[in-house]
Amino acid sequence: MSSSTLNGRRFDGRVALVTGGASGIGRAVAERLHREGALVTAWDIDGAKLDTLASAHPQGLRVQRVDVTDPAAVSAAMDALTAAEGRLDILVNAAGIVGPGGPFWEVTPEQWGRVLRVNLDGTFFVTRAAQPHLVANGWGRVVNLASVTAKEGPKHLGPYAATKAGIVGLTKSMGKDLAGTGVLVNAVAPALIATELLEQLTPEYRAAAMAKIPLGRAGTLDEASSMIAWLCSRECSFSTGAVFDLTGGRGQ
Ligand SMILES: NC(=O)c1ccc[n+]([C@@H]2O[C@H](COP(=O)([O-])OP(=O)(O)OC[C@H]3O[C@@H](n4cnc5c(N)ncnc54)[C@H](O)[C@@H]3O)[C@@H](O)[C@H]2O)c1
Repeated sequence: MSSSTLNGRRFDGRVALVTGGASGIGRAVAERLHREGALVTAWDIDGAKLDTLASAHPQGLRVQRVDVTDPAAVSAAMDALTAAEGRLDILVNAAGIVGPGGPFWEVTPEQWGRVLRVNLDGTFFVTRAAQPHLVANGWGRVVNLASVTAKEGPKHLGPYAATKAGIVGLTKSMGKDLAGTGVLVNAVAPALIATELLEQLTPEYRAAAMAKIPLGRAGTLDEASSMIAWLCSRECSFSTGAVFDLTGGRGQ
């Protein structure tokens, strides 16, 4: 692997799974890992976007329509992936939704349940299914998508912020549970990254969130996928259960 890092193919020989891989951050990560040599499978619920991704990469970026909220579907798809590829080394949990905006008392139990199922249950189900395969290798990297909202708890975004705070706690526990196995579990906590997800936020929320970023702009997909790819790589070796800031200085 050492020569691979020199020729820009850090992930030669690695098998990677990216959820939410048809769009935004997930797609950017899937394409970067693919470009750098990994055998990548993208899971997503959006079949049309998966088709677009697959046709952009006829040479081997695999796609499968999987709903991460369905534990039976996740388990079957994980069995199929690991049977086909023989192993799994890298998992990036990027599937997510914003869910309802507004004061928490206007959020219905159904809306609350949906955002928890996608963001939190989905991350748990997929990582749980991946765990035996990662541990069997004696090497693995998991990256979860948290958010700056986990720490701030912004006004009118309670369910989303709660799921992202849940992902922070889950990441910290998973990192410790897997310490010593060769599998590292970390999270990134972005502020605004320019993706379609931002269209699920009100213009007022987007403007207020942008105003809080000292660097004065949204992050790019290249910046997000660069940090996540590093966390998926061999170069990341002494961090686990950690949450990495990706906020243009907003921190919190
Ligand atoms: N963009 C940002 O500013 C930002 C900031 C902080 C955190 N994040 C997090 O990063 C992750 C990726 O966000 P993004 O901005 O790329 O959003 P995006 O909307 O572009 O992509 C999310 C993807 O998840 C997929 N998805 C939704 N429900 C699913 C399900 N049940 N099963 C499988 N796939 C499903 C969607 O179809 C979509 O392709 C999310 O977890 C999001 O919360 C994004």
